[in-house]
Amino acid sequence: MTDRKLFKTLAGMVAVLVAVTVVIFVLAQIVTSGLRLNANKSALAQNQATIAARIKPIGEVTVGSAPVVSSLIPAASAAVKDPGKAAYESTCVACHGAGVAGAPKFGDKAAWVKHIAKGLPTLYKHALHGFSGTAGYMPAKGGNPGLSDADVQAAVRYMVSHGK
Ligand code: HEC
Repeated sequence: MTDRKLFKTLAGMVAVLVAVTVVIFVLAQIVTSGLRLNANKSALAQNQATIAARIKPIGEVTVGSAPVVSSLIPAASAAVKDPGKAAYESTCVACHGAGVAGAPKFGDKAAWVKHIAKGLPTLYKHALHGFSGTAGYMPAKGGNPGLSDADVQAAVRYMVSHGK
């Protein structure tokens, strides 16, 4: 192959490559022209609105509206309103619910008479610190040290009010 022939061949290849580059460039322009959103500002804004609508969460929570929450979980909000009931249901019900091991049964007026007769301050003391009576043993705070004193006293009032 002479130098002249080699030059011709190379020049031909360069020409072909340039032509291919031009074709690719033109094709790229045609294909991407539909995607150039910035070209049309209103189209872009519309697109954002559509996207926002499309990725909107299914459910929306209204924060700070107590009635909605309390209507969804009435039991929980009732428990919050009455800490005595909550403490009773978490702990005291274990024995007082069915009157287990000599515990005066919840709502059983005959069983509660002699306890109520002692007066609230004594009942508070016995519920908080434990009490060994004739019928059985009442553990301090019903055996649940996680309860606050106020909760236990509220539970006593709750049980007493239903035992009168
Ligand atoms: C492990 C069982 C048990 C649990 C739990 C329990 N109690 Fe009692 N409780 C008893 C028994 C038994 C008696 C009766 C003791 C007696 O009169 O001989 C009693 C009696 C009482 C009395 C009457 C005390 C008195 O002086 O007559 C009160 C008030 C009381 N419990 C409150 C509570 C409260 C409030 C809770 C929950 C925080 C609770 N109890 C949880 C067993 C229990």
